Amino acid sequence: MKILILNGPNLNLLGKREPEIYGSQTFEDYFTELQFKFKEVELGYFQSNIEGEIIDRLHKAQEEEFNAVILNAGAYTHTSIGIGDAVSGITTPVIEVHISNVMDREEFRHVSYISKYTAGIITGFGLKGYELAVKSFL
Ligand code: DQA
Repeated sequence: MKILILNGPNLNLLGKREPEIYGSQTFEDYFTELQFKFKEVELGYFQSNIEGEIIDRLHKAQEEEFNAVILNAGAYTHTSIGIGDAVSGITTPVIEVHISNVMDREEFRHVSYISKYTAGIITGFGLKGYELAVKSFL
């Protein structure tokens, strides 16, 4: 089982960025914990602040025969028709994850251009959401 975690803009700042919303752990640190927890899963990780790179990575995930993608597209979730189209255009199942509960935040965060094409959404469980997403594929 090969699963790719794909993080979008500003998620490289996890641990430093608004810790009251996103927590104080870096993603690199959390990713090491995940690899330890799911030794039977080949976990990949990619982060980009660039919309086109996220789209390219989604295409590549299919080419590389990942079984699933866990996607936190950050703010692009609420703006990017291109990322939505990429999710819709690949056959690899995608789960949408948000660290914060986007439904309990500003109204512009209630809109997702991605959800319609995903297998499901996990929002508001902190970094644990990624773990729940991995489990959903096992
Ligand atoms: C986020 C929620 C988005 O609204 C925000 O722009 C992010 C992070 C989350 O994980 O809670 O960058 O996707």
